[in-house]
Order: sequence, then structure tokens, then C-alpha cells
Amino acid sequence: MTTTASETAATEEAPFFPAERSCPFSAPPKYTEFREAGGLHKVTIWDGSRHWLATRHEDIRAVLSSPSFSADVRNPDFPLVHSNQPEHEGGLFLRLDDPEHARLRQMLTREFSVKRTQAMRESLLAITDELIDAMLAKGGPVDLVQDFALPMPSRAICTILGVPYEDHDLFQEHANAGTDLNVSHEERARLQHKAFEYYESLVRRKREEPGDDMISRLLADHTGPDGFAPEMMPVLVGILVGAGHETTANMLGLGTVALLVNPDQRDRLRDHPELAPSAAEEMLRYWSIVSTDPRRVASEDVEIGGQLVRKGEGIIVSLIAGNRDGRAFGAGEGECPADELDIARSARHHVAFGFGSHQCLGQNLARVEMQVAWPRLFERIPGLRLAIPTDELPFKKNSIVYGLRSLPVEW
Ligand code: HEM
Repeated sequence: MTTTASETAATEEAPFFPAERSCPFSAPPKYTEFREAGGLHKVTIWDGSRHWLATRHEDIRAVLSSPSFSADVRNPDFPLVHSNQPEHEGGLFLRLDDPEHARLRQMLTREFSVKRTQAMRESLLAITDELIDAMLAKGGPVDLVQDFALPMPSRAICTILGVPYEDHDLFQEHANAGTDLNVSHEERARLQHKAFEYYESLVRRKREEPGDDMISRLLADHTGPDGFAPEMMPVLVGILVGAGHETTANMLGLGTVALLVNPDQRDRLRDHPELAPSAAEEMLRYWSIVSTDPRRVASEDVEIGGQLVRKGEGIIVSLIAGNRDGRAFGAGEGECPADELDIARSARHHVAFGFGSHQCLGQNLARVEMQVAWPRLFERIPGLRLAIPTDELPFKKNSIVYGLRSLPVEW
């Protein structure tokens, strides 16, 4: 069972995780090297602990669909991303295992169903148009992150949940500190506390004066002994707000850059807006923005990619490495290589949303947002271009979610 690959892995040094990208458009070279060598490899994380890293598309799907791995962060061997992440609080459905995870998750799935999110298309288009109008009125150069990529999904998730958008400075600052690994322990704790107080008072207000929104429905139908613990509601709302805007915002910024530096792909999308769904999948695959997750801990001995993972050992999967795996993408006759962008590619089997039972709850929403945003942006501002050279773009370094700090554009 234990093979040559595992012997190599046991003796090789364990480089630091997360590794840096040497080119902002490519996977970190170390992950590519690991993937091409095959098997699992050991990495060292911030607290000095060592865990397995899976980099092949096939191995990642095997890890994420295997009942032998647990997502429960209360396990002392779980590879945490940083010392004071909210995960420490545990108990939320996303950090639980099935069947408890599935029982709680299904209380949220209707809110993010294909039907519900497709029904938002018109209102998302209206938000997109409003933001484009404001950018045009302002005149370039503008920061596309602040003026478009961030407010679009923020306004959408606020509408769904019933969170006042006027409070965006607070929740965006909180979400950003939660993902930026350069932020100090103390500062992150301070912002978490401030955000918790905000969500606590919001939940209290919704309890007293319910509205036609997701928080009010959750409080009415799914809080209590058979649902979410009432004291966890502010944490749950905070996670949904954060995951609901920060991720898509980064995708919108990065996807716009990818289209600007690949004008043939931009023109193709503008001339064929029916390619928007495949373009969104390809962007998700190409960028694979979730840089440090998913992570799991083995609850029993299990073999992955020829490597024995023992009970209690932690494992991290590299979504970017898996999504750039030439065995899974670009292997067919005439297909575009995995490291290149092809908006017409059939990329739906990517793992950018994870895989298995914890696969992204908000994926339908994120998809519609991207499908609406890019075609409209380039239809209305065909001359959109970068206002600074590509090599000066401030890509995020050391962040849980990859993205751009700002994106200066003009037209
Ligand atoms: C492009 C945008 C997005 C990307 C790339 C993304 C990525 C991911 C990934 C990789 C996971 C799996 C984590 C794991 O297995 O441990 C995940 C889970 C999750 N995502 Fe997203 N996400 C996006 C948008 C959203 C949105 C809009 C929401 C809305 C609320 C959301 C809410 C969640 C939740 C609640 C989970 C946990 C699901 C569970 O454990 O059952 N995400 N996401």
C-alpha cells in the first residue's frame, strides 16, 4: 500500500504553505512541481505543524468526497489557517461532518437554489448597470475593485440576507481582515469582535421586526433545538455575508484583468454573450481564488494517490494546482492547455467551489453574478483598459482568497 511516493514524501523537506505565486497568473511553482511528481507531499503551516498537500485533480476529488476525512475544526489535529479564525468556535454546519452538516446545510440550500438565484438575474443586471453608470459619470481612471467588483456582490448578498448595505464599510473590513494573512492576531480579533456585535444587534432587530429576507426566515423556521443554535446566528450571518461578497468580488476583479490581457477572449465574449456560462466556469478554474482551503483531518487510515494518510493526519488541497492539472483539462485533441484561458472550454468539473458534501453553498449565486457582470461591463464600456501596466497590478499576497487590492482602469 505505502509506495515509493510515500517514502519520498516522508523524507523530503516540508515547504511552507501557502506558497507564493512567482507569476500572478500561474499556480505557485512548488505546487506544480508536487503535482507533476505525483502522490501527496508534506507542507508546514504557520504554527509549525506539518500536513499533507494534495495537488492532482483526481486526488483532490478523492479527498473531498471521502467519508474518511473530517471537516471538524474542533479536532486538535485539524490544520487551521491562522490562530484566531472564527472556525475555532466550531459548531457551525460548514465545520461539521455529515449527517449533522447535511441536516443543517439543507436549511440554507433553498435560499441559494438555481431557481432562486436565476430569478435574481434582472436585479443583478440593474445593480450592474447602476454601477457602470456611476463609473461612466465619474470618468476614468477608476478603481474597478471599489467601484464595481466589490459593491456588486455586496449589494446582492445584502438583499438576500436583509443586511443594510449602508453598513458595507464594517462588513467589508471584517471580511478582508478575515482573509488577509498579513493582519495581526490582535487586529483580526478586534475586528471580529466589532463585527460580532454588529451582527448580534442586527439579528436582535430581525427577531423583533422580521422582514422578507433570509435572516428573518432562518430565525422563524430554523433556529432552536432542531436548527441553528440561537447564539450562533450572528456568526452564521457574518460567514454568509463574508463568503457571499468577498469571494465573488475577487473573481470579478481577476476575471476582468484576464479579459483585458487576453483581448481575443474579451472580444469573443462580447460578440457571443451566450458564452457567459462557460466563461464563468473557466474563470473559476483559471483563477481558483481559494488559496488555503479546503482542509481536512483523517478520521481513519486512508490511501490517497498511492499515499497512506494515517488517522489524525491533516490534509490540505490546492485548488489551483488541481484546476491547472493537464490530466483533467486540456488533454483532449485540439484542446487549449490547462495553463491557458479558453472561455469556451468545458470546465464545469473544476474544483474551484470544492467538491463533495461541503461544495460551495453559494455557487449558483456566484455563477449568475459573473455571468451577468462581464458581458454587461464589456458591452457598455467596450474601450475598457488597464490604467497601469500589468506588472504593476497589486495582486494580493498571503491571503486566504486570491484577488486584487485595486484595479485602476480607464476607457
Ligand atoms: C466565486 C465565488 C466563490 C468561490 C470560489 C467559493 C469557494 C468555496 C469553496 C472552495 C468552498 C469549499 C470549502 C471546503 O470544502 O472546505 C466553499 C464553501 C462554502 N461557500 Fe463558497 N465560494 C464562492 C462564493 C460563495 C458565495 C456567494 C456564498 C454565499 C453565501 C458562499 C458560501 C459558502 C459556504 C456557506 C460554504 C460552506 C459549505 C459547506 O461546508 O457545506 N460562497 N466555497
